[in-house]
Amino acid sequence: MSHINTRTLARDLISQMGKTVTLRGWLNNLRSIGKLNFLILRDRSGLAQVVIESKEEYQKLAKLQPGSVLTVTGIATKSAQAGLGVEVTSPEILVEASVATPPPLEYYKPKIPSDLEYILDHRAIALRNRQLQAVFRIQAEIAHAYRLFMHDSVGAVEYFAPNIIGASSEGGAEFFSVDYFGYTATLAQSSQLYKQIMVGVNERVFALMPFFRAENSNTLRHLTEGKQFEFEMGFFEHWTEILDIQENCIKFIVKSLHQHCSEEIAALDGSIIRAPEEVPFPRLTFAEAQEIFFQRTGIDERGEPDLSPAAERELCKYAFEAFGTDLLFVIDWKTSKRPFYAYPKEEQPELSNTFDLLCAGTEITSGGQRRHTHESMLEGLAAKGMSPDGFEDYLSIFKYGMPPHGGFGMGLERLTMTLLQLKNIREASLFPSDPKRIAGHRIRARIFFGGTNLRDEIIRLLKRDDMQFTHLVHEATPTSEDSARVRGTSLMEGVKALILRGKTTKKNYQVNIPSHLKLDMKAVADLLGEKCEFESPEVISERFGISVGAIPPFGNLLNLDTYFDVAIEDSSKAAFNCGFQTESIIMNTQDLIALVQPKTGHFAK
Ligand code: 4AD
Ligand code: MG
Repeated sequence: MSHINTRTLARDLISQMGKTVTLRGWLNNLRSIGKLNFLILRDRSGLAQVVIESKEEYQKLAKLQPGSVLTVTGIATKSAQAGLGVEVTSPEILVEASVATPPPLEYYKPKIPSDLEYILDHRAIALRNRQLQAVFRIQAEIAHAYRLFMHDSVGAVEYFAPNIIGASSEGGAEFFSVDYFGYTATLAQSSQLYKQIMVGVNERVFALMPFFRAENSNTLRHLTEGKQFEFEMGFFEHWTEILDIQENCIKFIVKSLHQHCSEEIAALDGSIIRAPEEVPFPRLTFAEAQEIFFQRTGIDERGEPDLSPAAERELCKYAFEAFGTDLLFVIDWKTSKRPFYAYPKEEQPELSNTFDLLCAGTEITSGGQRRHTHESMLEGLAAKGMSPDGFEDYLSIFKYGMPPHGGFGMGLERLTMTLLQLKNIREASLFPSDPKRIAGHRIRARIFFGGTNLRDEIIRLLKRDDMQFTHLVHEATPTSEDSARVRGTSLMEGVKALILRGKTTKKNYQVNIPSHLKLDMKAVADLLGEKCEFESPEVISERFGISVGAIPPFGNLLNLDTYFDVAIEDSSKAAFNCGFQTESIIMNTQDLIALVQPKTGHFAK
């Protein structure tokens, strides 16, 4: 039996004026104006307005929540009020899936009136919002345009590289290890090694590849999983041809967005970065960039090996003011700050043929020329103190002939974020992973319950990070003075860990002060934004499995917001009970801070 698809999309209603049409979609919202009821129906193309005059039809919807799936048959009728200039009248409604529970957030409004954390907590539903939908449609268009450009204009061949690999491609400690049947494997930080291998095959190659970075910091521009646009080419006359391709690529993407995503851009309030076709992206050397930052702000970072985020922002401001573009290349970076494969300049080997592309204040791309002889590559590894083990496949290509070559890696989420001027990179990832979330989900903190678990975890962390410490077993010490005496430390070096309860939120906090000082409850209230009291010993024992005198300053292991008074840093050593009144740890204060990562404030007197 043949099937005739008679569905009309919201966007196409205007061409069906006066005809009977069938819409299918989700109930977005219901509105009543006087005696009239309006149903706003969402489909993949947009929102359609349906006017319901009949009581009987309205009754079918009266108890339904947004998200209910409906089929609506009615007449396409001209309307000055409806957004599309057309609405559907005299509808007959069929409920295909009814939703009785209100959604956790008001995604059906033009802008979701919730903060980003809450939106991420309900990501799967939030993505139905028109603005969020627009971001990810634009992201899809960016990827499509990249592929078109690389394939049609550059003549590059797409490759698909592995993500579970044997060696870290970018060096450093920012990679994840996975247990691979008892072996330790690495999740790829980029497909750097593979794109270079593929230059030996196809000369010009590109990819859109996942990357994984164990970046344990919560910034507005770092994710732990993302996608990179990769590009690599061999046989250039001059290495800056890579910059030419990068620049044309961005301009092509921006042009495509203006051509194909004008509605989505409008849904995002029309703001998109400026990259006029006729304006070349300025190209500054790293030294020039530092100088310009100094000239414009008086902040002297000319001795620094890297650009600070503030400098990146200021340089993009400069590019716009001086040239009218939001993008700017910084070239010739210090070889010591680039990965092992970066090509040192022949005439000045402490500098390298490398670049970053900055867009609207943020790095979106790193790239450059690569070392291409076997000897030079081994030198590069050695200079970074890296072992050639695990790089056998990669190193073999240099033994068997590689031309001068280079390329770049551009972050998909960084590009989406900066093109659309979003504040937080998480807004440019469907299900972002960061130190606090895996694929959008908050990681439920593991609580170490009871003295034994706590003490063992603290000692495990200290050993893992090769930190010096002393673990003492002693008589029970109910007071700070007793503790100092049996530990042989001063009162100042003792850290008193206190668990508080917010009077409004009932939430527990941990505040830590040097044991010769007292807690200033008023300062605590200012810091935490609510009045607090001491949590009762019974609750502490029930919730955390420890007695009040035994709490270590590791509130993070108890899943508590943890604060250190600044005076703790006045002592280089820190001493505290580690889960039992009869056991203490003495360690370096800076190590303690590195492990706990507390927030700090003034709340001891
Ligand atoms: O600067 P990166 O680390 O350079 C490379 O991966 C090289 N293999 C590139 C090359 O061809 N030489 O990463 C490249 C880009 C960054 O500029 C950024 O856009 C993105 O990838 N990126 C991240 N984006 C979000 N979160 C992170 N943790 C990122 N790490 C890199
Ligand atoms: Mg970089």
